Amino acid sequence: MCGIVGYLGKNEKKEILLDGLEELEYRGYDSAGIAIIENKQLKNFKAVGRLKNLREKTKDYLSEGFGVSIGHTRWATHGKPTELNAHPHMGAYSFVVHNGIIENYQALKKELQSQGVTFLSQTDTETIVHLFEKNHKINNNAWASFQETIEKLEGAYATLLITEADEETIYFAKNGSPMLIGFKEDEVYFASSDTPIIGKATEVYYLEDGEFGYARHGKVYLFDANGQKTFTKQALATDKALAQKDGYRFFMEKEIYEQSSVMHDTIIGRVLDEKIDFEELNPELFNNISNIKICACGTSYHSALASSYLFERLSKIPCQIEIASEFRYKEPLLHDDTLFITISQSGETADTLEALKMAKRAGLKSLSICNVDNSSIVRESDAAVLTRAGIEKGVASTKAFATQTMVLWMLAIYVAQVKKSISKETLEKELLAMRQTPKALLVNNKLHHKMTRLSKRYLHGHGFFFIGRDLFFPLALEGALKLKEISYLHAEGYPSGEMKHGPIALADAELFTIALMPKSLHYDKIKSNVEELCARDVTLLAISPEPFDLADDFVQTSYSSHPMLEFFEMMVITQLLALEISVRLGNDVDMPRNLAKSVTVE
Ligand code: AGP
Repeated sequence: MCGIVGYLGKNEKKEILLDGLEELEYRGYDSAGIAIIENKQLKNFKAVGRLKNLREKTKDYLSEGFGVSIGHTRWATHGKPTELNAHPHMGAYSFVVHNGIIENYQALKKELQSQGVTFLSQTDTETIVHLFEKNHKINNNAWASFQETIEKLEGAYATLLITEADEETIYFAKNGSPMLIGFKEDEVYFASSDTPIIGKATEVYYLEDGEFGYARHGKVYLFDANGQKTFTKQALATDKALAQKDGYRFFMEKEIYEQSSVMHDTIIGRVLDEKIDFEELNPELFNNISNIKICACGTSYHSALASSYLFERLSKIPCQIEIASEFRYKEPLLHDDTLFITISQSGETADTLEALKMAKRAGLKSLSICNVDNSSIVRESDAAVLTRAGIEKGVASTKAFATQTMVLWMLAIYVAQVKKSISKETLEKELLAMRQTPKALLVNNKLHHKMTRLSKRYLHGHGFFFIGRDLFFPLALEGALKLKEISYLHAEGYPSGEMKHGPIALADAELFTIALMPKSLHYDKIKSNVEELCARDVTLLAISPEPFDLADDFVQTSYSSHPMLEFFEMMVITQLLALEISVRLGNDVDMPRNLAKSVTVE
């Protein structure tokens, strides 16, 4: 996710902005920039890569006297990480920074271009500053122009704008992406979260969706659709480390809670009213493709495995899944009618990268699904789709898995559209379910408290079996991996129909079985498998919309018309289970022993 800072006042601005952006580095970024207006001087610096590159560029610059200033760290969603795509974006006499996704930017951009506006970048953000200046040319009133601009935007945004047309003012608007305002005497700060202003501002106001306004002469004027409004400042937190986790105990916990909001970013501009669209893909990529091979490791392998059910069921295309470290040495038979897809959160996993190079040497077309733009795997692929999960700090992957699975689900529909293998009714049903996914990912406190209480019973035993069928078998694998990674207890994911072919010999009261029992997919089959285990006295945790009397513990989920909504809801439960067991065992949830966030060696 991008990071935003802003400052209005008489102190030196460059350091305030750069220090503030450094506090936002944990959100992940691939370029950064600042813009300052003071004494009728417009200054704008940008750099690709780490903030030290921007510090290097600005080392001979210091601001003086009163002025307005904005800064930004960019996590690429539209357009590669380049200086041209870095924020702040400039018009003729104004600058803008933005976090979020402007869903209707293409239409706005097209209209502006038809009126002779030249765009320098590939971003959606640049549209904001040109729209502002277009409005300003007509009405010569900066505040009215800003209001008109914001009214035109659809999608998620937290944005700051400064302009020579009104050089003592910072304009702001917030909808769907976080932003706050900090106060100290006659100084005003803006930031995406607390940490950049801790130690600087003393009071804070957290903007709500639909609020906008301006800061001038040390005062903030706040508005919403009903007009100007009053607001109450509150004391600002003082603990930076806690603030980076936004008050959660661990980054992993924060990232589980973030899944609902990042899923909005993942689907915005892609799940459209009547179809799936990937502006970064050319449908011709799928020409002469008669099967798909997906290659990945760990959690990314699990999202791949889940998608194989979707590709074959929805796109009617054969889909094989490979573990990258196995694929590399199995002397695979590869044909150029195969599309080779790699999945990777980091984009740097050595086994996956080498597998991709093998496929390319064999002449296969390649597509990567990744969370980090400009990573090695993205650069090596013919095409790439970003998951837009924002940086994932917890070593145990959560939101990356959720967004990978969603991108693959969308891709299965996209391929079905290209291959014309999906009916209008099925397409409508899939799109409706996709739009409901952010809701399915919401974590409610009652559920979390239940998982915390329940976890005390699962701290020993001779192991866990997570069992599921069909789409829920890969989810069972993922639930088992989450638990292993952060609790260090042994767990296996298994197809529920396979238990009778050997593993049921383990069944006794000390065997913890976590059964994923969706109502919308093969319920009767999974139910009979679970009953076989209960007959052998396993300790059973059943996760299902349907009450199940034989369970020792039962977590009730929602009845849903679509298996993927059950998938995502059950995914959250298995993540919380692993988290709370690990907490009780006193483990380092975010940095589990022996693990690295990116495995860049064989
Ligand atoms: C996930 O919880 C693990 N940390 C690990 O399995 C990870 O998914 C695997 O190493 C692949 O990483 P990648 O997605 O960055 O390629």
